[in-house]
Amino acid sequence: MIGRLNHIAIAVPNLTDAVKTYEQILGAKVMPPEQLPEHGVTVVFIILPNTKIELLEPLGENSPITAFITKNPAGGMHHICYEVEDIEVAITKLQSEGVRILGDGKPKIGAHGKPVIFMHPKDLNGTLIELEQI
Ligand code: CO
Repeated sequence: MIGRLNHIAIAVPNLTDAVKTYEQILGAKVMPPEQLPEHGVTVVFIILPNTKIELLEPLGENSPITAFITKNPAGGMHHICYEVEDIEVAITKLQSEGVRILGDGKPKIGAHGKPVIFMHPKDLNGTLIELEQI
């Protein structure tokens, strides 16, 4: 069901500093920041030859990553995103296996304009996993 690794997301307390680190120290190709109010984050994509890194900074009062940053003030690995061909097929399979999908269980439009879901970390080895339909 899952295909390529689409991205690894790192939550950061300060996007400007994180971008500087990736651009100036690690010499990575960094895209401009995008605000995603419906996801409560500002995101910057780092383009690597074989995948992407998504830097996430909390946006707004009810950002889903505020609690994560409080627990991990220096930032930390937040989630991994795998590609799937058909997100509805994936949802049906996951639900039939008892894997919980966060939120209302319906796909949302993610940072690339494609449908995404997140699964409960307790059902996936303690890791927050995003699936993105390609
Ligand atoms: Co993501």
